[in-house]
Amino acid sequence: MSLTARQIGLIRTSWDKVLPIAETAAELFYGKLFEIDPSLKSLFSTDLTEQGKKLMTMLNTVVENLDNLEAVVPAAQASGARHAGYGVTEEMYDTVAEALIWTLGQGLGDDFSDELKDSWVAAYVILSTVMKDAAKEAA
Ligand code: HEM
Repeated sequence: MSLTARQIGLIRTSWDKVLPIAETAAELFYGKLFEIDPSLKSLFSTDLTEQGKKLMTMLNTVVENLDNLEAVVPAAQASGARHAGYGVTEEMYDTVAEALIWTLGQGLGDDFSDELKDSWVAAYVILSTVMKDAAKEAA
């Protein structure tokens, strides 16, 4: 469960560019998510601005701990179990991945190289696997 130092560096540099536009990025993300699958809308009961802040905060914690992902495993496990309670299924993690990668592409433009994209996908796979495994345990 680890990324290369180069992948970590790429993700961090790109995240520094997303953070100043975090609110817009969150809006783009939910817009894309519900465009891909409108049925997901009904899972969300919280105001999406608030929800977007929570999502960005969690992603920020993950990005800060990319070189020490063990540190975020307990929080990711707890979150995965909560997500099962929200009605989130394994397949939905793929939909979220698609919306997230698309959003990063929008925010980063030409800076979103294939290598950077692959690095984000690798990080997402690690995080989402921990969450999904914890959801299965909780079931
Ligand atoms: C790595 C992937 C994900 C991250 C980092 C993430 C992050 C978060 C965070 C931080 C919260 C706040 C509440 C909590 O921590 O329990 C949350 C809630 C939620 N997430 Fe996620 N999430 C992810 C994947 C997903 C997926 C795949 C779905 C499926 C559509 C989803 C749907 C929801 C819903 C429905 C809520 C509750 C919203 C509400 O209370 O209205 N999330 N998520």
